[in-house]
Amino acid sequence: MQLAAVILAAGKGTRMKSQLPKVMHRVCGKAMVEHVLLSVKNAGVQKIVMVLGHQGERVANLVGDKAEIAYQVEQLGTAHALLQTRGLLGKYEGDILVLCGDTPLVRPETLNELYRQHIKQKNSATVLTAILPDPKGYGRIIRNNEGNLEKIVEQKDGKPEELAVNEINAGIYCFCSEGLFEALAALDANNAQGEYYLTDIIQYYAREGKKVGAVVIADPEEITGINDRCQLAAVESMLRRRILERLMMSGVTIVDPASTFIDDSVEIGPDSVIYPYTFIEGKSKIGENCIIGPSTRLVNSTIGSGVTVQNSIILESSIADGCNIGPFAYIRPGCVLEARVKVGDFVELKNARLGQGSKVPHLSYVGDARVGSGANIGAGTITCNYDGEKKSLTVIGNKAFIGSNTNLVAPVVVGEGAYTGAGSTITRDVPAGALGVARGKQKNISDWAEKRKRLPGNNQGDQ
Ligand code: UD1
Ligand code: CA
Repeated sequence: MQLAAVILAAGKGTRMKSQLPKVMHRVCGKAMVEHVLLSVKNAGVQKIVMVLGHQGERVANLVGDKAEIAYQVEQLGTAHALLQTRGLLGKYEGDILVLCGDTPLVRPETLNELYRQHIKQKNSATVLTAILPDPKGYGRIIRNNEGNLEKIVEQKDGKPEELAVNEINAGIYCFCSEGLFEALAALDANNAQGEYYLTDIIQYYAREGKKVGAVVIADPEEITGINDRCQLAAVESMLRRRILERLMMSGVTIVDPASTFIDDSVEIGPDSVIYPYTFIEGKSKIGENCIIGPSTRLVNSTIGSGVTVQNSIILESSIADGCNIGPFAYIRPGCVLEARVKVGDFVELKNARLGQGSKVPHLSYVGDARVGSGANIGAGTITCNYDGEKKSLTVIGNKAFIGSNTNLVAPVVVGEGAYTGAGSTITRDVPAGALGVARGKQKNISDWAEKRKRLPGNNQGDQ
């Protein structure tokens, strides 16, 4: 395949009303432009050039080595943008696919079909078009009496009869490289926006007697462009539905797709069930037979099989098979839970490693900790990991039993099979098998309640 691609992404995206360049706005967890790049790459295109301008450095950072960059210093229109790739593609022999950075739903199959038709029809330029019930805002495809492509008219320039046409320009084209840059340089900016329109090349070619053609897309949803935040939300929900459908078809139960938010990059095994109000983001991976949600957020985390997570947040952590999390657990970055660990309600973990079958059933903070297997951490246990200057480690051995309401003042080690007494503040290591108790001894004062009533100034007893 002799095909290169150019992604136009120099525009400011004025209608987004944002400090962030338009193509960097995220759709289902990935920048718009990353979706376009991925689609082009999956279509098998190897040479990819991106035209950047407004905050170009910022976008270039995001793009990295996924594309070569051409800069358009002044945004004078889409034809002018494509002309800026002359330095990189001027000598390229083959065909050039041109797309916009703001159309993230386009499928690789569609790009391949456009290219196939372009070759088959032996066109100099082939435009991808769509039939929309509401074509407003897009360029309209104007055909002559024989039905051949004649020109593309922009919304702002169209006469009423032209604007009545509901076949629109998707903004995706295939061009023969031969003569392309000369033609671009010959276009003018005599239009409502005073811009060099790439769309004008169609009329220019048609008049020159070059062959131009159009391919009508089957699913118009794919080419929805994002110009403002309403369209951003619309595209987000379309992509979300695509992702959820893919997961459901692969054997995942999504109880309510309308209230489930899963990024494109997430993998979930069959027979897992995702309950509503759940967000699964980034490079998260979930095994089989899990129950996730309701009201759960997982970010860049790996979850094994047979895991239950209810009403909880898990960030950048790894949870092995058979663990049971929540409700209301907050697992912060850097946690590793081995198989069958239980983390119950109102428990916060941070940078903690818990060995097989260990339990933190309720109301605890375990941070900067290494816990062995089969340990039990009683309700209200706190690892005092921070002395105001530095963080220190708490080490708890296999099968240790931490009594309720223990404060473990780190650095401290509780040995294998050791116990701590409920309510203890442990400041020294507890040897294996020992009981560490550190609390005031209890004394009972007999008849205290009666005596209190008789204290001077306390008239409670007289009531
Ligand atoms: C464009 C098409 C329109 C089509 C629509 C499809 C033109 C003149 N119009 O309109 O026919 O229906 O896309 O979504 O091409 N860009 C630059 N440099 C510039 C101007 C734009 O790189 O000087 C980039 C933008 O970043 C964007 C893309 O080109 O990614 C399209 O520009 P935009 O202003 O969104 O064009 P539309 O008005 O949507
Ligand atoms: Ca656009």
